[in-house]
Amino acid sequence: MKKRDQWSSKVGFILAAAGSAVGLGNIWKFPYTVGMNGGGAFVLLYFIFLIFVGTPLMLAAITLGRKTQLSVFGAYKSIDHRWSFVGALGVICGFFILAFYSTVGGWILYYFKNTLLGTLKTTDPNILGEMFTQLMNSPKKLILYQFIFLFITMIIVLKGITNGIEKASKIMMPALFIMLIMIAIRSVTLKGSVDGIRFLFVPDFSKITMDVAMNALGQMFFSLSIGMGVMVTYGSYLNKKENILNTAIIIPVIDTAVALIAGLATIPAVFALNFEVGEGPSLMFVTLPAVFASMPMGSFFCIVFFLLVIFAALTSSISMLEIAISYFVDVKQNNRTVSTIIISIIIFILGIPASLSLGTWENVNLIGRLNFFDLYDKLTSNILLTTGGFFLCIFVGWVLKADEAVKEIESSNVTFKLAKVWSFLIKYIVPIAIFIVLINSYKDFILSIF
Ligand code: PHE
Repeated sequence: MKKRDQWSSKVGFILAAAGSAVGLGNIWKFPYTVGMNGGGAFVLLYFIFLIFVGTPLMLAAITLGRKTQLSVFGAYKSIDHRWSFVGALGVICGFFILAFYSTVGGWILYYFKNTLLGTLKTTDPNILGEMFTQLMNSPKKLILYQFIFLFITMIIVLKGITNGIEKASKIMMPALFIMLIMIAIRSVTLKGSVDGIRFLFVPDFSKITMDVAMNALGQMFFSLSIGMGVMVTYGSYLNKKENILNTAIIIPVIDTAVALIAGLATIPAVFALNFEVGEGPSLMFVTLPAVFASMPMGSFFCIVFFLLVIFAALTSSISMLEIAISYFVDVKQNNRTVSTIIISIIIFILGIPASLSLGTWENVNLIGRLNFFDLYDKLTSNILLTTGGFFLCIFVGWVLKADEAVKEIESSNVTFKLAKVWSFLIKYIVPIAIFIVLINSYKDFILSIF
């Protein structure tokens, strides 16, 4: 039997896992989702879910992977074959999530090209808004850039250069972090930014609704890359000596720090420069160029910023593609190259309607009220990932059993001081919390497609 690859060090794992977690979900999606869901109230719920649901689940996922040493489908199957459907769910989710992610990845590439040509030097909301709308109404460009994004993802995965990518993350990720801090500093020092800071951090409790909870939970799953099997699969390459406890905490901490700083880079500027906070998916694309325009050496920073975002997006998209492929290669024993190409083509085709959704196809709905972009977004974050997370905790808590999981965690000679608390969370609190929110997500989803 072929010996399985392992991360050469834990740093390799952390880089890959954090690379998967930190991406467009933090930089692009978090700020606009905060904007659309009442600001501080959303952020508060996000934090509650992060501490009581997301972090315990992160540990559960890594533990399951490390214990079985198998990618997600096999991990469930090896413990109880009836549960292999959860792995399958992750694989399906991989298709849809990348279809939608590559759409936005394409926008980033297009903006990067534009910043290179220096066409973004303005703080005028109307001009910047118009630029975004124009892109949304250029089907050829959208499809071309979506294609390029997917193509790069495919090449990285095909050539097996994910290793090189992880090494590059050592420089690119801290660079992105520093860049975001610089933008955040500019943003919070703009005149009139205080309202934005307040909007972000002071919760208006009347805004806490079931819908906001649903979006906060969905955003958390999306941002942490859990519920789909990425962390199970990545965890499976960890050797038995590594302490997985601190890793499971480091990743959510990094991920949330990036999201919050991206929020601080965007939202205060939205208030200071008179943009619209509930603007939706275009928020980052109209606001940040304006922040750069008001910064010394702004054009240079803008180019570097978009480049770093492309990098962050790619370290996430490769993890999605890996999950989609893992089933066909590990389980079905298909040829890796052929599978990767076919899957990428399918994802590309699935993604085209999403790319057209904010412009020419705005009112084209396959089912119900949602256009394709919204459909994929809701289907993945609020339904598939959340459902995957629900099954993950039931599985680890009750099928594998929390005690077994604790043994696995402690097998590397660490004492898990909070073992009891974690077991209680995984067995009771996490599933119940997800279940309550999930019922609402299903209801909302079903109502919007009929
Ligand atoms: N976490 C990634 C981001 O924030 C997106 C992602 C979701 C990646 C699910 C893999 C799996 O951009």
